[in-house]
Amino acid sequence: MPTAPLPVAWRAGVDISPVDVRDDAAVAWLETCVWPEQEERRERLRAAVAIARADPPRITQGDLLELVDDQVAEASEHGSVVVFHSAVAMYLDRAGREALVERMLGLVAAGRCHWVSNELGDVLPGVTASATAPPDDRLSFVLGVDGQAVALTHQHGAGIRWL
Ligand SMILES: C[S@@+](CC[C@H](N)C(=O)[O-])C[C@H]1O[C@@H](n2cnc3c(N)ncnc32)[C@H](O)[C@@H]1O
Repeated sequence: MPTAPLPVAWRAGVDISPVDVRDDAAVAWLETCVWPEQEERRERLRAAVAIARADPPRITQGDLLELVDDQVAEASEHGSVVVFHSAVAMYLDRAGREALVERMLGLVAAGRCHWVSNELGDVLPGVTASATAPPDDRLSFVLGVDGQAVALTHQHGAGIRWL
């Protein structure tokens, strides 16, 4: 287990409809998506927007299934590659989810990256099936590493239970 933050040599993201954090109206809209009573989440979002404005990440607009191979190839020029996604696979249809799993397990088997997934329990059933405890109402997400469940998590990051 690391005892200090790991250095990140390079990073990039993919989103089918990215929010431009330099656009005040877009950020205001994003804030309205935080439930009214969850002031701490709103504060965390504002802090994240400030960081992103100061040091904008590279975000490519597009479908993750179409872009992941090229992104992994580009990232591998900078070091070990980790593909991470959270609360995204649920927006894919069943065929898309299966394609994502096949693609990621293929990349992992080829030694091209590690795959860290954080998705609602029934979205990636193969990952969830490897969990030693089932997701519940509070910890409804499953954190996977290379297709194996390692923890149950809260959908908004409010909790984690290692398995
Ligand atoms: C619920 S948000 C999750 C955001 C962030 N990952 C998190 O955990 O807070 C889902 C995101 O997935 C993006 N998305 C949905 N389908 C996608 C696809 N096929 N390819 C890439 N991004 C997609 C949406 O635009 C949205 O930004």
